[in-house]
Amino acid sequence: MNKHPFESRLKKSFTISLDEIHKIIVNFHDEMQRGLEGKESSLKMLPAFVDTPGGDEEGRFIALDFGGTNFRVLQVALDGHGSARIERTKKYVIPKAVMHGTGTQLFNFIAQSIRNFSFIDRSESAKKKDLGFTFSFPMKQTNIANGILINWTKGFSATGVIGKNVVTLLRDSLKRSGMSRINVVALANDTVGTMAARSYKDPLCDVGVIFGTGTNACYREAIANITKLPRAARSRKNMVINIEWGNFNRLPFIPYDELLDRATNNPGKQRMEKMISGMYLGEIVRLILTDLIREKHIFARSKGKFAKGDFKTYHMSLIEADNSKNLSDIKEYLDGVGMLKTSLEERRLLKKICALVSQRAARISAAAISAVVTRMDPNLSSNHTVAVDGTLYEKYPRFRRTIMSALKEIHGRRSARIKVVRAKDGSGLGVAIVAAAAAAQH
Ligand code: BGC
Repeated sequence: MNKHPFESRLKKSFTISLDEIHKIIVNFHDEMQRGLEGKESSLKMLPAFVDTPGGDEEGRFIALDFGGTNFRVLQVALDGHGSARIERTKKYVIPKAVMHGTGTQLFNFIAQSIRNFSFIDRSESAKKKDLGFTFSFPMKQTNIANGILINWTKGFSATGVIGKNVVTLLRDSLKRSGMSRINVVALANDTVGTMAARSYKDPLCDVGVIFGTGTNACYREAIANITKLPRAARSRKNMVINIEWGNFNRLPFIPYDELLDRATNNPGKQRMEKMISGMYLGEIVRLILTDLIREKHIFARSKGKFAKGDFKTYHMSLIEADNSKNLSDIKEYLDGVGMLKTSLEERRLLKKICALVSQRAARISAAAISAVVTRMDPNLSSNHTVAVDGTLYEKYPRFRRTIMSALKEIHGRRSARIKVVRAKDGSGLGVAIVAAAAAAQH
């Protein structure tokens, strides 16, 4: 007899079968096509007005990386031969008041951080500085140096930014802070930066992915297929498309997904992101634990509980990384949050729950990656590099491995054609490359 029937129930609801993966891929292709045609779709398929770099971009640029938990300012040097180097970088935690305040406060915070960073380049200090701006939210662009915010994601809610050109807002705040010599030459999503960072030295790279606080991907599309663009703008060339896959919604949702979605500030939106990304995975586990604690299936001898936001994806990764016999790191964590007197059995169960949630995330991620690559190359007849950045991918135990084994399940030996690589700091580095390409055109 099964000791814990709820365990098999949970397992069943969080398992994504190969059949389901295939269905996800078919639906993903359909939504991609609709998005490119300008029809209603959960995939926005936003033209990024840039192609992959030529590899010869050079110069020194300021890069801003805004859109996750932290904000970064970087000074990047490109040598024109595929090497992009961070000369200096500084990280600023985005205060809650800035995330939820006014747009003016938000852009003033960005300008103040740039001032604090004080771009050093003595030889050229009086000259204009070119800046590339990574803004990791859905934007409608009509060229490389503008973009209108469509909606916020990842819990941001600053007022007065939706519907506005974020480059104008940035320029205004730079001017107000006496930094008009800084020239904003390019705007890009973090996925676009990540892809550019890798394709600068790897011509096979045609997909950029973020698995971090949020999730998203971009890829290279033939402009002729982007039929929502005016006919005159269509040519034989290629353009990067920011898919905004976090909003994909043709997925096998379970009641926990509905519960989580309803409690967010953007219900009904970013449904795939809410099953995959770092901002939400911990909360899914917390919802499961809350049920199990209430039904006295776990931690019955302890009085502790987990309030909303207490259990983070970071805790899940600590839990999954504990391979000790006694699960002593897990015990230490639980003791620390007042969940005392736990048994080894209970700690094992907690670890299993985390694995169910993270593996579901990784399998859906694999389905999405496969869908993007097979949109470009249905039979995988050539090699593709998928550049990935983001803490979840970098730090979460077995996340990468689960993606790779799911890709193998889907494509068999052909999965070797999909090379998934880490593009560390890609979003910051890449936007400097995009900026160099844009600056060269002026
Ligand atoms: C945003 C995307 C971004 C992704 C990763 C999502 O919430 O909508 O634009 O690329 O997060 O940062």
